Amino acid sequence: MERLDSLVLHGPSHPRRLAPEDVEAWRAMEALHEAGEVRLIGVSNVAPSHLEELLDLARVRPAFVQNRCFARIGWDAPVREVCGRAGIVHQPFSLLTANPEVLSHPAIGTIAARHGRTVPQVIFRFALALGTIPLTGTTDPAHMREDLEVYDFDLTEEEVRTLAVAGEG
Ligand SMILES: NC(=O)c1ccc[n+]([C@@H]2O[C@H](COP(=O)([O-])OP(=O)(O)OC[C@H]3O[C@@H](n4cnc5c(N)ncnc54)[C@H](OP(=O)(O)O)[C@@H]3O)[C@@H](O)[C@H]2O)c1
Repeated sequence: MERLDSLVLHGPSHPRRLAPEDVEAWRAMEALHEAGEVRLIGVSNVAPSHLEELLDLARVRPAFVQNRCFARIGWDAPVREVCGRAGIVHQPFSLLTANPEVLSHPAIGTIAARHGRTVPQVIFRFALALGTIPLTGTTDPAHMREDLEVYDFDLTEEEVRTLAVAGEG
């Protein structure tokens, strides 16, 4: 392989700010990008404060933020807000495993039944409606197919609103 499509920094070493070693890692990733060895660079497991700090110092802005997505904090709303402002693509992961209360939520089951879809499909469709690129952790070929079959139906605005608050107390 001569070139990577995407390289993601797994996560900053401090919970809220960038440590010197995080900046050093980002500079190394920028150098790989500038040398043409990596097309896109990104960060993972970040808080909004990490991202703001990185945006201030980056020569090459992150193309992606890959974050665990908890419905109870608005599906990572604070980080998605910074991403939206900075033109960064948000890649949510653990959409299913981090949100058992949404998987079993009666209103979400009703939405799935209305569209003749599974609850995971409704959640992935919702993530697309938020403007994110959802990741799936499945290792099952049938689930992989199911997760890809979400481009031929739409959620209504009201359904999107229901999903948006499904993780709130
Ligand atoms: N950046 C990071 O720090 C980080 C950390 C963790 C994970 N990740 C990435 O995030 C992605 C997702 O993580 P996750 O494992 O928490 O994923 P997830 O998509 O929330 O959950 C996957 C789990 O749900 C089950 N499942 C049941 N029905 C499913 C369906 N229709 N579609 C998908 N899964 C279904 C899967 O079982 P089956 O396998 O039987 O389908 C699997 O046990 C992965 O690509 C992983 O590499 C990144």
